[in-house]
Amino acid sequence: MKFFVSSLRFLPPELAHSVALNGLNLIYKIGLINFLFPMPQKVKSFNYKNLTFMNQLGLAAGLDKNGDFIDALGALGFGFIEVGTVTPLAQPGNSKPRIFRFLSKQAIINRLGFNNKGVDHLVAQIKTRKYKGILGVNIGSNKNSEGQKRINDYIECFEKVAPFSDYITINISSPNTPNLRALHSQENLLPLFEALSIARQKLSYSNPIFIKLSPDESTETISLIMEEIRNYNFDGVISSNTTIDKTLLKDSDAQGLAGGLSGKPLYEKSNALLSDLHSLDPNILKIGVGGVFTQEDFAKKINLGASLVQIYTSFIYEGPQIVSKLLQ
Ligand code: FNR
Repeated sequence: MKFFVSSLRFLPPELAHSVALNGLNLIYKIGLINFLFPMPQKVKSFNYKNLTFMNQLGLAAGLDKNGDFIDALGALGFGFIEVGTVTPLAQPGNSKPRIFRFLSKQAIINRLGFNNKGVDHLVAQIKTRKYKGILGVNIGSNKNSEGQKRINDYIECFEKVAPFSDYITINISSPNTPNLRALHSQENLLPLFEALSIARQKLSYSNPIFIKLSPDESTETISLIMEEIRNYNFDGVISSNTTIDKTLLKDSDAQGLAGGLSGKPLYEKSNALLSDLHSLDPNILKIGVGGVFTQEDFAKKINLGASLVQIYTSFIYEGPQIVSKLLQ
């Protein structure tokens, strides 16, 4: 199995991604998944509101954008899985190549641009899932939606996924959809928060709502956002999405590449944001994500104030074994 995972490195990144997930699905369907990847045994559960997370490790958004692999990924022992980012309409995303691996740095730069099959497809997938763990849905807006249309996109996704998700993440931090990060500024954020708050009341949605943040904003901006998250009674924050600061990679090939950087080089920067968020509000729930490859990385995020931790890039580099490696 190790050989299979390592050999995927020789395929172009998107092909490797698809081969790996379809392979995992096949192993799940023939009933061998826990023979090959035993469920972690010694785990610490975590309760928040009415939700019980079987353990504190989750899969970050972006790996299963369409909810096509929930059961197979869930069988690996994640305490929670976040699918999406989903948008109202299906869209192809940016032109290829759009994922770049930096193996020796354990990093990825991606500029996928919310390629996904649209919210109706995702809802059909999550409705029929067998996975019993916590399922979050990460929502965004279509590439060409601006102004009020952008807000309407979030609300359409929110209304469609709310009946079937344990929590919903509002993604305002992808660097790969034009102007999406402008939602960090108060004048753009407030109309979005207001609309979400109305939708939540209309649907009597009582599950958590999390806001996924960019690690590239100023302390002042983050502090204003936290104030509004409290005002609107949202539940938590995810720190963080990818960074556009390629200097962290210390690789000259990467400097001109557009996209968001994830993996090891993001670790310190996402931790710095996590720590700032915890100082601003020790009580609000925090999910730490960015560069977690070892149990020490995991423990550090918890020490900085995270109640839950997610991974993406280490799953790509190390394969499904990473789940038990981090939790054992
Ligand atoms: C992502 N990430 C991401 N985040 C999100 O909110 N919506 C998305 O659709 C995606 N898509 C996506 C694609 C690819 C190829 C990567 C590498 C990442 C960001 C991801 O969820 C996470 O926040 C960062 O990658 C940081 O965590 P890691 O990868 O360092 O563990």
